[in-house]
Amino acid sequence: MQFNFAAVRAVDSGAWVVGAADGTGLLPAAAKADKAAGGAIGRAMASSKFTGKTGQVLELLAPPGVAASRIIVLGVGKAEEFDAPAAETAAATAVGRLSGSADTRITFELDTPKGAKVKGAALAAHLALGAKLKTYAFNQYRTKDLDELESKLADITILTGEVAAARRTWGRMETVADGVFLARDLVNEPPNVLSPQEFARRAKALSKTGLKVDVLGEAAMKKLGMGALLGVGQGSERESQLVVLRWNGSRRKTAPPVAFVGKGVCFDSGGLSLKPGNSMMGMKGDMGGAAAVVGTMRTLAARKAKVNAVGVIGLVENMPDGAAQRPDDVVKSMSGQTVEVLNTDAEGRLVLADALWYAQTKFQPKLVIDLATLTGAIMVALGAEHAGLFSNDDKLSAALTDAGKAVDEPVWRMPLGKAYDKLIKSKIADMKNIGGSYAGSITAAQFLQRFVEKNTPWAHLDIAGVAWQDGERKPLIPSWSTGWGVRLLDRLVADNYED
Ligand code: BES
Ligand code: MN
Ligand code: ZN
Repeated sequence: MQFNFAAVRAVDSGAWVVGAADGTGLLPAAAKADKAAGGAIGRAMASSKFTGKTGQVLELLAPPGVAASRIIVLGVGKAEEFDAPAAETAAATAVGRLSGSADTRITFELDTPKGAKVKGAALAAHLALGAKLKTYAFNQYRTKDLDELESKLADITILTGEVAAARRTWGRMETVADGVFLARDLVNEPPNVLSPQEFARRAKALSKTGLKVDVLGEAAMKKLGMGALLGVGQGSERESQLVVLRWNGSRRKTAPPVAFVGKGVCFDSGGLSLKPGNSMMGMKGDMGGAAAVVGTMRTLAARKAKVNAVGVIGLVENMPDGAAQRPDDVVKSMSGQTVEVLNTDAEGRLVLADALWYAQTKFQPKLVIDLATLTGAIMVALGAEHAGLFSNDDKLSAALTDAGKAVDEPVWRMPLGKAYDKLIKSKIADMKNIGGSYAGSITAAQFLQRFVEKNTPWAHLDIAGVAWQDGERKPLIPSWSTGWGVRLLDRLVADNYED
């Protein structure tokens, strides 16, 4: 896919995208198109309910008087509501219109209504980002009907008055889209293909982007005392892995890094506490946290972010063979704390316990953020609209909340506290790995907090509801996996932690 930014010029082929605002009607480029087409847009508007509201689209095929194959008029809504996410969604909507069409080019000439929150070079780049995110497809495993499925779109052009600045902004943004695509690919990949070792190989391949990538196998983890993580993987034929990705982009070479920790359960059968068949479907995506970490690290390296960052992902397969961990087992974590494993399906927290401890003791990070498809309970609480945020630090929480709003990956803070922590007291060990019937996401977070050092700012993102989408697809996310978290973390770093 080719992305171009160019000064305003006549559109001589393909789709021509223009805009209309709610209330004010056709924006200048749309008015120009209408005039060239002999008033065809105005007539089409009169016979439709198109008024320029957000999300509305008016499409004219083979319009008279213009060289473009079609004119797509996008409703951009009210000026004061037209922000970066709105621009991205609008661009994605236009690209979506071309699925199944023969058009190979799309040209955006979208002016902003007066008072819009995004304009100029930023608008151009956000349009490109929205268009790009919509072009994602995962068709590796199809052998039929590819011709119909695959988009013919080859050229996306954004007309803008600020070509040079738009290109610069896009250069950075495209690395974010690439990180999102990597995360989406990893989550979509079936679990017979994406074993912990295969995941680790794919992470290792990122060395070419400038990341330093180290892989620890079971022997190395055993030496470190990672009994919690290893217990989860012991019922699988596949070897567990811990992958460490480092990016040292800060001018202060020894500045403490920001640390990202990801749950990478390549398949979660539940183990001996086996999931019922229906709940097992989709559990290839239980490594969505690890995918977000890897996607983010790739982006930080590709855009040469001025930050020191480290990603630690715990990769395991949770399976129920004869060597599997039993409900009632007690394991010893790298921190020295013991855990009574009462439910082998509450495995993510066991993996994270050791990954979190490793990240903190090895790198003394200035803060640590973990991402995990940790609990079904977070979907009961927040659905697919917010990820759950748990944190011991108000400043970090606020920064994550702001970044989430900016990139439309919103997070919602949930409580932590002593009363919840009590719910994971064990009769025979330091803690048990499940709480009671209620507050399941919170007791999971309390468990994680026991593996966070007192003075380390820490945030846990429970992304079980947002890592993939089973219902209606969001406009910017055409596939099952979302790549959730890459944009959020990239933005968090850019706004808060770069030199
Ligand atoms: N991977 C699941 C959580 C999950 C559920 C993610 C549905 C996405 C969709 C996690 O390992 C799990 O099984 N959690 C249990 C915990 C329980 C046994 C305390 C759950 O949520 O039921
Ligand atoms: Mn589980
Ligand atoms: Zn799980």
